[in-house]
Amino acid sequence: MVKRIGVLTSGGDAPGMNSAISSIVKVAHHKGIEVVGILEGYRGLFDENFKVLNLENTANISNLGGTILKSSRFEDFKKEEIVLKCIEHLKKQQIEGLIVIGGDGTYHGAMSLSKLGFPTVAIPGTIDNDISGTERTIGFESAVSTILESVEKLKDTARSHSRCLVVEVMGRHCGDLAQYSAIASDVDLVIISGNDIDLNTITQTVKDMIKLKDECMIIVSENVTDVYALAKMIEEATQIESRGIKLGYIQRGGSPSVGDRILSVRMGIKAVELLEEKNTSKAVCFIKGRIVHQSIEKTLSDDVKDIGIYEDFQKLR
Ligand code: F6P
Repeated sequence: MVKRIGVLTSGGDAPGMNSAISSIVKVAHHKGIEVVGILEGYRGLFDENFKVLNLENTANISNLGGTILKSSRFEDFKKEEIVLKCIEHLKKQQIEGLIVIGGDGTYHGAMSLSKLGFPTVAIPGTIDNDISGTERTIGFESAVSTILESVEKLKDTARSHSRCLVVEVMGRHCGDLAQYSAIASDVDLVIISGNDIDLNTITQTVKDMIKLKDECMIIVSENVTDVYALAKMIEEATQIESRGIKLGYIQRGGSPSVGDRILSVRMGIKAVELLEEKNTSKAVCFIKGRIVHQSIEKTLSDDVKDIGIYEDFQKLR
């Protein structure tokens, strides 16, 4: 019987991580399993930064943004000798299985731990929604809501000045935040990797939209183009005042949305059950409305995400 498990959050924090931690502690408690929190992700594991979690010190955290366990990006975890050292630290603490919550980098870390023999289960926690084998990651829906709220405020000021605003949203190399927030906030154009929109189309849209409704909003996915340079080009070509804006870290903060809370609680429960069953080296996924599990490798290589969003957005233009 499993008696002690660990949990850590790694990579960019995401709304809903705390809610997942809370559900892990609760369900483990009911099963008589002790939960050890590892502070600051994989770096904390290397530094032996442990803290026992219980119902008391995780009460009322579900609504909090960020992660009470803190997070980090720890490049050294790519080295086998570092992973082996971390496994030693886990064993020293009598931790029999580990739950990691994070994105792509975290998943690769989980794979290394599993390959080197340590029972590990991964939960997708990132605003980017960039884990292709799950339809949703914890934090994505909250970030889309934050973007929507911000874009609506930006529209107020854009309209007051008859301006075009070019807004960069996060996502690393994944265009989901851009596409979903574009459709939700009814903007005029969305620019993501792979959809080459020429400058003429952009400037014509800007002119048409300013004429129609006194503002034009363009959402650009991170790492695709320089929003400041694009705004300048638009202004030069159209003589319409244009500004580039990067929404930045505001997208990662805040209380999780209803959907993220439910998703994170359910995924937390599943992760503990998997460790209890010793069904490890698995990732918890959300597919077709169900919380399921599959190998971490499959989760990184399969693509189950909705591919119709961009096409739907285009039908509105
Ligand atoms: O993965 C979440 C994310 O916010 C990405 O959207 C972004 O590219 C990256 O993290 C920023 O990383 P950092 O917090 O290290 O600046």
